Amino acid sequence: MAKRTIVTLPGDGIGVVVMKEAIRVLNASGFEANYLHGDIGWDFWCSEGNPLPERTIDLIRENKIALFGAITSKPNEEAKAELNPALQGKGYSYSSPIVGLRQLFNLDICVRPCKSYKSNPLNFVRRGKGNSIDEPLVDVVIFRQNTEGLYSGVEWTNPPLQVYEAMMTHPKFRANYGTTPVDEISISTRIFTRKATLRILMAAFEHARENGYKSVTVCEKPNVIRETSGLMWRLAKEIQRSSYSEIKLLNTNIDAQMMWLTKNPEEYGVIVAGNMFGDIVSDAFAGLIGGLGFACSAQFSEDGIAVFEPTHGSAPKYAGYEVSIVNPVAMIESACMMLDYISENEIASRIRRAIAEVIEEGKVRTYDMMKMSGRPEVISNGAASTSMMTDAIIAKLK
Ligand code: NAI
Ligand code: MG
Repeated sequence: MAKRTIVTLPGDGIGVVVMKEAIRVLNASGFEANYLHGDIGWDFWCSEGNPLPERTIDLIRENKIALFGAITSKPNEEAKAELNPALQGKGYSYSSPIVGLRQLFNLDICVRPCKSYKSNPLNFVRRGKGNSIDEPLVDVVIFRQNTEGLYSGVEWTNPPLQVYEAMMTHPKFRANYGTTPVDEISISTRIFTRKATLRILMAAFEHARENGYKSVTVCEKPNVIRETSGLMWRLAKEIQRSSYSEIKLLNTNIDAQMMWLTKNPEEYGVIVAGNMFGDIVSDAFAGLIGGLGFACSAQFSEDGIAVFEPTHGSAPKYAGYEVSIVNPVAMIESACMMLDYISENEIASRIRRAIAEVIEEGKVRTYDMMKMSGRPEVISNGAASTSMMTDAIIAKLK
């Protein structure tokens, strides 16, 4: 078979570190690919005023599959100050390149699996009967709508007159804000479209069917946010009734879900939510399976672009370490999601089994798994470095 071409976007900070480790694992697994490097992140903001250069966009458009590490974002003032002096005052303004990628390629489906590894010391535990300690194994996949809702950037402070007047036609706006001066009003919109809502729901149901999950839970707040959450819940009921009757459909409110997930996390399978609630619920479940060192994700567009990335950011405070201490598993797991996507499931399973064996054996653990606070000394105190962790995983690959 012809070699695959994969665009690698290491980005900033530890993104660069964990990308290298993931490629080492992919190479050791026997997976063959051409990797094409794409420039993205802070350095390109500083040097050329664009953290997502056109050449990188072209590379992704052409090759369709990208592995992404992490980028650094900073507030506007800091961004301006670090911009190449030759470009300052010329109207450049910083915006996050990963958010840019999501919007540009309409990566509307975000998948975040949260599955506990047996014997991970960071697994969630709870008190059981007679004060025993239970360690429920979590196996949840969150489908987050990735482009709409509260994160779409349609917002104003001191909204323009047409917007204000349109809002004033709503009786609740008039009653609650009608006497507030317009320049004291900030509005962030939450827009859901039928098309994108259907797509995330269909992806969730299909994943449940293909992977044997018994339930799909819509995690929104339709009793209060009647139009947008309500749309998702209504469509979910229609889809379940017409096409997925073997899958149980559950409805939880985001607030209650945050409480229940520490009571009965093992009872959830696939969870689907809008952009912000999906972000929240996926971070919360990630906390039950080991946190950012274990949280992987994939993002897909309708026209076949796929980007795989760990959920964590660039962790700048660990970026300059001579011997890196961060956990490479989230990035390696993201690479496994990529392998599944291109039907290299056997290789993905082998890598996941190798990770599982290393974790279960418990001899090689990064600082987060040892509950240490991150410092260079963690290595002399018995924690594995990033590359030692990768080496251990590679050694288990069969
Ligand atoms: P972060 O995810 O980079 O780090 C938060 C903390 O999580 C770290 O200090 C560390 O204690 C822990 N951590 C993260 N990754 C880890 C790993 N692989 N192994 C062990 N521990 C790990 O989030 P933070 O500090 O809020 O943001 C740092 C920068 O990253 C910011 O500039 C932010 O804008 C950016 N960011 C980028 C994201 C992306 O590229 N998708 C996502 C989140 C933040
Ligand atoms: Mg987040």
